[in-house]
Amino acid sequence: MKKLLIAALVLLQSGMVLATGLIKNGDKFYDTRGEVINAHGAGFIKVGDYYYWIGENRKQGVFVSCYRSTDLVNWEFRADLLTRDSDPDLRNANIERPKVVYNEKTGQYVMWMHYEYRHDYSQARAAVAYSDDIEKPFTYVKSFRPFGNMSRDCTVFKDTDGKAYFFSAARENYDLAMYELTDDYLDVKEHITTLWPGGHREAPTLVKHGKYYFLFTSGCTGWNPNQMKYAYAESIRGPWSELINIGDETTFRTQPTYIITVEGKESTSYLYVGDRWDPKQYFNSTYIFLPLRFKDATTPLFEWQDEVRIDAKKGIVN
Ligand code: DGJ
Repeated sequence: MKKLLIAALVLLQSGMVLATGLIKNGDKFYDTRGEVINAHGAGFIKVGDYYYWIGENRKQGVFVSCYRSTDLVNWEFRADLLTRDSDPDLRNANIERPKVVYNEKTGQYVMWMHYEYRHDYSQARAAVAYSDDIEKPFTYVKSFRPFGNMSRDCTVFKDTDGKAYFFSAARENYDLAMYELTDDYLDVKEHITTLWPGGHREAPTLVKHGKYYFLFTSGCTGWNPNQMKYAYAESIRGPWSELINIGDETTFRTQPTYIITVEGKESTSYLYVGDRWDPKQYFNSTYIFLPLRFKDATTPLFEWQDEVRIDAKKGIVN
C-alpha cells in the first residue's frame, strides 16, 4: 500500500500525469513502476497498439532498455534488450543511439546503434542486433565501419516501400553518410551519398510528411545543445535541400533523437523527442517531447511548449 502511494506521488510530480494525456516538459520522466525512465538517444517503433521507446540505459551493464505505451504518456518498462553479456564484443563497449526497425521479409526486429570501446570515441563503428520479439533480448551480429567509414551518431529510417537506410556521422563527424541496408536490414549494401561534407552534423532523425522526407540534425558540441537544422527532399536519395535552422539556437536545450509519427483515427501528428543532456551527470539527463507541425509542404514548425497534450488514439498532439 505504502509503495503504491509513493509510486502515485512520484507519477504526479513527474513529467507524466496519468489519464490526462499530458506531458510536462522539463521534469523527469517516470515509468509505471515509479522509476526514472532510462532510455536516452532513443528510437520509437509502433507494434500493434503499442509504441515502444527503446534507448540507452547504461546502468549495471545494460546498454538498451525498452518501455511501451498505448498513449505515449504512461510508459511501462518491458525488458533490457542488450547488455554487456549479450556478446563478447560488448564486454567493454559503449552503445549509443539504438534504433529499431521491423523487417517484414524476415519477421525480425533489427537494431542499429553506435559502438565504441569504453569512454573512447575513436572506434567509431556501427553495430547491429536482431530479435524475433521486440520484448526479448536481441542477438548481437557485429560492429563494423560501413564501407570502411567511421560511424558515430546514427539513425535508421524505414521507407514505405520496405527499403531501409542508415545515416551516420562519418570522417570525425565532418560528414553525414547515407547507406541503403540489405534486404534483411542486417548490413549495408550501398553507400548512397555523403551529405553536407564538412557540415559537422550529428543526431540525425528523419520523418516523412506528405511527399517530402525531412532530415533533422544537430551540430557537434558534445553533450551541450546547439541549433537544430533540417533539410528536405522529394526522393530519399536526394537531392536534399540546404540545411535550414529550426527552433531556437539551443533547440530548447535539447538534441534530437527521434520524431514519432502519431497516426490516429482523426489525424496524423508528429512528436519530436529530444534528449536534454546533463553534461555533468549523464543520469540526470531527461527528455523533451514537443509537437512538430507543418506550415506547408516543406516548412516544419517547431516551438517550445511547457506542456503537451497527446491523444494517440485520435492522432492529435497539442
Ligand atoms: C553527442 C552525441 O549526439 C551523443 O550521442 C554522444 O555521442 C555525445 N555527443 C558524446 O559527447
